[in-house]
Amino acid sequence: LAKTEVELASIPEGKNVIIKWRGKPVFIRHRTPDEIEEARTVDWKSLRDPQSDDDRVKNPEWLVMLGVCTHLGCVPIGESGDYGGWFCPCHGSHYDISGRIRKGPAPLNLEVPPYELKEADGKLTI
Ligand code: FES
Repeated sequence: LAKTEVELASIPEGKNVIIKWRGKPVFIRHRTPDEIEEARTVDWKSLRDPQSDDDRVKNPEWLVMLGVCTHLGCVPIGESGDYGGWFCPCHGSHYDISGRIRKGPAPLNLEVPPYELKEADGKLTI
């Protein structure tokens, strides 16, 4: 299957990039230290789809996930919503800076696809 490669250096800290992978949008965010701190200090066990930030990333600076709302499949909007992450305008689901569902009808966190992070080469491969 086709792989997609992304140059990490092309994504500045605090920015989102959207790429296409197998016909689906994939969100890549280069998170700031504050965002990492926020993602890690949430009491994740109390969330609807309980998952720690550590379980969602290979390196906390890089958040990689499918840009497909787990409600009915719309594409959420970055840097919006009540939790500093993504907001799905279709029916109002709010995801946090780890892509976890925090409010609205979506049942699950945004899915993390299989990917490889080769930091020595500065590349992310999906
Ligand atoms: Fe995203 Fe319904 S498809 S909230």
